[in-house]
Amino acid sequence: MRRIKLPVHVAFIMDGNGRWAKRRFRPRAFGHKMGVQNMTKICTHAFRLGVRIVTVYALSAENLMRPKEELDELFDLFRSYFGKKRERLTELEVKINVIGDITVLPEDIQEDILRVTEETANYSEGLMNICINYGARQEIVRAVNEAVSHGRFVDEASFKNFLSTSGIPDPDLIIRTGGEIRLSNFLLYQAAYSELYFSNKMWPEFSKRDLEKAIENYSARDRRFGNVRGNDS
Ligand code: IPE
Ligand code: IPE
Ligand code: MG
Repeated sequence: MRRIKLPVHVAFIMDGNGRWAKRRFRPRAFGHKMGVQNMTKICTHAFRLGVRIVTVYALSAENLMRPKEELDELFDLFRSYFGKKRERLTELEVKINVIGDITVLPEDIQEDILRVTEETANYSEGLMNICINYGARQEIVRAVNEAVSHGRFVDEASFKNFLSTSGIPDPDLIIRTGGEIRLSNFLLYQAAYSELYFSNKMWPEFSKRDLEKAIENYSARDRRFGNVRGNDS
């Protein structure tokens, strides 16, 4: 890629697995399986390009309404993903952090997640946040209740510490695949000034080149944050 302004934090709404599979006359579960493979490929590429933080929306809180068979298939995928030896989980030494209420997952998967987060805790080649059973509204309500239980009034700086992304800078760029132009309850608070990029590609077919195109597009944008002119223009 030519010299560009890189986002520090890129978040992905990895949508379109089911439709991608259906178009190939395959079950939705096959789409999810290829989706997980693509997640590893695309996130690794993002880190190699110099992105420091990657956040992926793997399962929304609302996705729990899906039929049990589909959820079981998704849980099986989480099982094989987090159950892998950590050397194979990420090609790079990236710290893995899981965001969302994982108590709904079978216990063995919760244990695997805990192990992976512990084993990668000191890795410093990047940070990968995986959102599972995550919903932004739920997160905000929980954060408010926590602040209240501490008997505290909050301001913007202190409120951030109650969110699951505490200590993590907001996403600079949010990429959604699958053709829908919405956030579907993803990082609503943190996305206040994120640049949004929508791709018609389904997630399993979103390529390294597609990621580069999204970053090039981001790079050309003027982020004004309400001011007259962007910082670096
Ligand atoms: C995104 O793909 C992955 C999850 C929500 C788990 P979908 O399963 O939503 O795929 P489509 O949108 O039905 O194609
Ligand atoms: C958003 O996709 C959630 C994830 C990608 C994990 P959905 O497929 O659940 O979103 P909607 O239902 O089309 O809004
Ligand atoms: Mg979808």
